[in-house]
Amino acid sequence: MTRSTIQDTDRESIAEFVAAHWGCPLIVTYGQCFYPHQEQGFIERREGRIVGLLTYRVHDDQMHLLTLNSTVEGTGIGTSLILQALETARTQGWRRIWLTTTNDNVRALGFYQRLGFRLVAVHPGAIDEARKLKPQIPEIGLHDIPIRDELVLELWLKPYLPAPAQHAATCADGSGRGTP
Ligand SMILES: CC(C)(COP(=O)(O)OP(=O)(O)OC[C@H]1O[C@@H](n2cnc3c(N)ncnc32)[C@H](O)[C@@H]1OP(=O)(O)O)[C@@H](O)C(=O)NCCC(=O)NCCS
Repeated sequence: MTRSTIQDTDRESIAEFVAAHWGCPLIVTYGQCFYPHQEQGFIERREGRIVGLLTYRVHDDQMHLLTLNSTVEGTGIGTSLILQALETARTQGWRRIWLTTTNDNVRALGFYQRLGFRLVAVHPGAIDEARKLKPQIPEIGLHDIPIRDELVLELWLKPYLPAPAQHAATCADGSGRGTP
């Protein structure tokens, strides 16, 4: 198994991988559209095939995880990609890692919380809105649960200091603190 950071030569295969796992190369998170193959991230390969992918974007010293996928679940790929992201964020001095997932994804909810993430916000109906931008989002998800809401999870690498200026910045970045 080999892990590497995303290079320009990987972008076409990442777009195909994302389309295979998320319905098309576009993802919608926190009301914004992203093409993960255009972003930064890490790829795990086995015999030349992608078996794990994590993509992210950095803004305001915060790492927004856009996608995480493992094609061989339960063998440690997802954990090692998150640990790689944590190491990168710490090395770069970023303050916070955050992500969104959907209300049906109870496995991911357990997975992230066991790795130290906290559930900090629920946005009821956010996926109903996202579906208007990306009709490929299924109506029914894992365990036959209707997919409707977005959950925000975060992990602070530096202490959260709720000074007024920072408070406004973090609200815009998915913290869920204060008025949405
Ligand atoms: C969520 C996801 C990325 C986890 O990836 P994964 O490769 O299965 O993750 P890991 O193998 O590191 O860990 C998964 C579980 O297997 C266990 N595990 C880790 N290594 C293991 C091993 N060698 N043998 C057996 N189990 C192991 C972990 O304890 C973990 O348990 P938990 O989920 O109950 O906490 C994966 O399920 C996935 O791709 N899901 C679809 C996409 C998705 O939902 N992405 C996240 C939302 S954005």
